[in-house]
This record gives sequence, structure tokens and C-alpha cells, in this order.
Amino acid sequence: MNTAERAVVLELRGVSRVHGEGAAEVHALREIDLTLVEGELVAVMGPSGSGKSTLLTLLGGLDRPTSGEVLIEGQSLADLSTKQLAAMRRRSVGYVFQDLNLIPTLTAVENVGLPLELDGASRRTARRTALKSLEDVELAELADRFPDEMSGGQQQRVAIARALVGPRRVLLADEPTGALDSQTGEAVLRVLRKRIDRGGAGLLVTHDARHAAWADRIVFLRDGQITDTTASELSAEALLAAGRHV
Ligand SMILES: Nc1ncnc2c1ncn2[C@@H]1O[C@H](COP(=O)(O)OP(=O)(O)O)[C@@H](O)[C@H]1O
Ligand SMILES: [Mg+2]
Repeated sequence: MNTAERAVVLELRGVSRVHGEGAAEVHALREIDLTLVEGELVAVMGPSGSGKSTLLTLLGGLDRPTSGEVLIEGQSLADLSTKQLAAMRRRSVGYVFQDLNLIPTLTAVENVGLPLELDGASRRTARRTALKSLEDVELAELADRFPDEMSGGQQQRVAIARALVGPRRVLLADEPTGALDSQTGEAVLRVLRKRIDRGGAGLLVTHDARHAAWADRIVFLRDGQITDTTASELSAEALLAAGRHV
């Protein structure tokens, strides 16, 4: 299926974000247009201060643009009340950061199921759905381990499973492999790629060109503007077919 036929999951229309006022004004993002369709993984690269994290917080509804429009699954975030926005975030959007924010006193499956429980699911339903999400990242067998009983790469896969548990389809990852060695980082990206292929869409901020190669497209940011967009140098299918996993 070509991208034109797939459902739009995320959209930015002419989005700008200005921090501060007067002499202290910082244009973190300028007139950004970006669309992600179902099954698409887009890497964002750019120097420090270029606006990458601001882009993620706007897409996740954690911050509002100064101008322009953000849509998640066709819904304009500007039309939502604070309460509706919070509900949309809980149900649709998952984040993965370099520091994973896994809760050390909860097992892997409890960590993954937590967003569902916070959203009112029963413990049993949360566990069942969380186990499925752990299967998607090839970690079902470690479901009852605590974070400190897992490797860094395994913990990062738990964070991905939590981000995309249940109905959530939007993954926003800010340098998720930054704390991992490059082989472990690739293993995490391989799992992430397969998960996005099965549904959802993801935006991945990374400094590592090899990790960006797992994406369908790479967007380059500089001073809050998209300077270039390239198809990723190797297709994900080619990487998977070449067994570029570790
Ligand atoms: N809350 C804020 N208040 C003021 N300036 C900010 C704030 N957040 C980000 N900025 C500025 O916006 C620009 C983009 O920041 P950021 O999105 O964090 O970039 P990146 O993630 O690419 O390093 C930088 O100049 C940064 O200093
Ligand atoms: Mg950043």
C-alpha cells in the first residue's frame, strides 16, 4: 500500500512555537508542516537547540503551538479542553525517553499495564493487554521481572511496550537509544520498527544515522525549520531481510 492510501495518524500544519517575549524571544519552531501515516516511522535529526524536543512535546499535546495546528488521528488539539487533551494523551500517545521512567517497584507487565489501569481498566484486563504489548516487543517471557533484573535494552523495550499498549498508536521517542551501546540500540530499533509496521506511527529523535536508517524518512531540523527530508538510505525491509539484528 502506498502512503497516499494510508490513514493519517499525526499532522502538523504551519506550526510555530515561540518561547519568551521581546529581546528574549526564541523561535523554537517555524512553520513546520509534517504528516505521518499509519505504519510510518520518521526520524528527526538536527543539532542541539534545533527544536527536536519542542516538536515532540507539541505532537504529544504537552505544549500548545504559538500558531498553526496539531492533529492526532484527525482531531485538532486546539479544539480540546485541558481535560479532553489529557484523555487524548493517555489513550493515543506514548512517549519513550532516554531515562525510561520505568517504576522500579513494578514488574515489566505492571509497568506496561499502568497507563490502562490509570485509564480505568481492571487489573486483569490491564495485565492481558500489557502481555500482548510485551509479546510485540519480544519480551513476554520477562513479564514478571522487575526493571533492575533486566538489561538496558530489555528495559527500553518495556518502555516501548508501555508507550504502545492497548489502543495507543502514536509513539514519540526522544533519543531512546542514547544510553545504550550501538548494537543494543539497533536491537531496540529493530523491535520498534516491527511494532510500527503492525500499526501506529512513530517519531524518533536520534543522533545516530544508523538508527535513523530504520525510519522511512529522515527529517532534518535546523533553527526550528525543516531543512531537508530524505527517504532513509536503506529501506527497513532491506535491513530486516539482511538480518541486521543482533
Ligand atoms: N521552555 C522553554 N523556554 C524557553 N526556551 C526554550 C524552552 N524550550 C526550548 N527552548 C528553546 O527552544 C529551542 C529549541 O529547543 P529544543 O526543542 O529543546 O531543541 P533540541 O531538542 O533540538 O535540542 C532552543 O533554543 C531552546 O533553548
Ligand atoms: Mg532535545
